[in-house]
Amino acid sequence: MGSTATDSRPPFDFHGRTVFVAGGTSGINLGIADAYAAAGARVAVMSRDAARVEAACAQLARHGAEVYGRTGDVRDYAAVEDVLADVHARLGDIDVLVSGAAGNFLAKALDLSSNGFKVVVDIDLNGTFHVLRAAHRFLRKPGASIINISAPQSYNPAPMQVHACAAKAGLDQVMRVLALEWGEHGIRVNSIVPGPIAGTTGIQRLVSDEARATMAGRIPLRRLGALEDIAAMALFLGSPFASYVTGALIPVDGGISLLGGRHHANLE
Ligand code: COA
Ligand code: NAP
Repeated sequence: MGSTATDSRPPFDFHGRTVFVAGGTSGINLGIADAYAAAGARVAVMSRDAARVEAACAQLARHGAEVYGRTGDVRDYAAVEDVLADVHARLGDIDVLVSGAAGNFLAKALDLSSNGFKVVVDIDLNGTFHVLRAAHRFLRKPGASIINISAPQSYNPAPMQVHACAAKAGLDQVMRVLALEWGEHGIRVNSIVPGPIAGTTGIQRLVSDEARATMAGRIPLRRLGALEDIAAMALFLGSPFASYVTGALIPVDGGISLLGGRHHANLE
């Protein structure tokens, strides 16, 4: 208890490999991009905000890795395709593709407009389909690993998050269907389900300071997660150690999924 994956980061070596992280300029996704850069990979990131893209590239470049960043919105298929073609031209076949862009906010269904529901589904679900569909021709075949970033909302109904619950549940089925269809191309497709990760936008938006402390006390490992906890699983899934793992939804959550939705009780 109390220790994180930082203490024992596995000695993965990704020199000569190319990694693309959609939504890789902040939080959990940037943590994954950073871990791959530290492990020697060429890393490309994409998100909407130019300043964030620039800052993320500066952070990643500190590891001495070859880094590339582009702005783009995962809701726009043509833009995603253009970014991926550009990344492929510069950095070569993509070995590891991470789809983690997401949007979320708390709103009761009756306070949510049609567009409010749609915007989250468009980013999380349609955006992930866009990233995976457009990337297929640029992936290393055989050998590529696709990692989607899901959430416990995909299987635990969470009040005030009907949009995110629907989007992440759909995302998990996209993962499973593409694992079935693309297995024969030598492409693995899996999803990480992070638990509540300290210091991220997601947890700041969705859980109050007070509720966060209560939540940590209910997690079987008695702490919130760290960026490194998720990054360690992402490194494993991108590595040859995971070469027989596909179609898996993998919680990295200190055991919170064992509680079902009960950690939400009386928290909001
Ligand atoms: N409650 C109710 N509705 C909300 C809302 C809230 N807190 N925040 C946004 N909406 C609604 C808007 O009112 C709008 O609907 P309308 O046109 O009927 O008024 C719709 O959602 C789209 O909002 P908009 O601000 O135009 O979307 P955007 O494309 O600029 O931004 C979001 C997308 C809303 C998801 C924004 O929060 C975002 O960019 N999030 C990314 C970061 C994030 O959420 N990280 C956490 C990951 S877990
Ligand atoms: P975050 O810091 O808000 O990161 C979201 C990233 O996605 C940002 O880089 C953002 O950059 C980008 N993005 C958002 N909308 C985009 C769009 N339309 N097109 C392209 N990029 C877009 O979020 P986080 O809290 O770290 O969460 C990251 C992932 O983990 C999400 O998939 C989330 O659902 C999942 N998750 C988080 C937690 C948690 O505790 N935080 C728990 C479970 C699951 P721009 O603003 O520049 O576009």
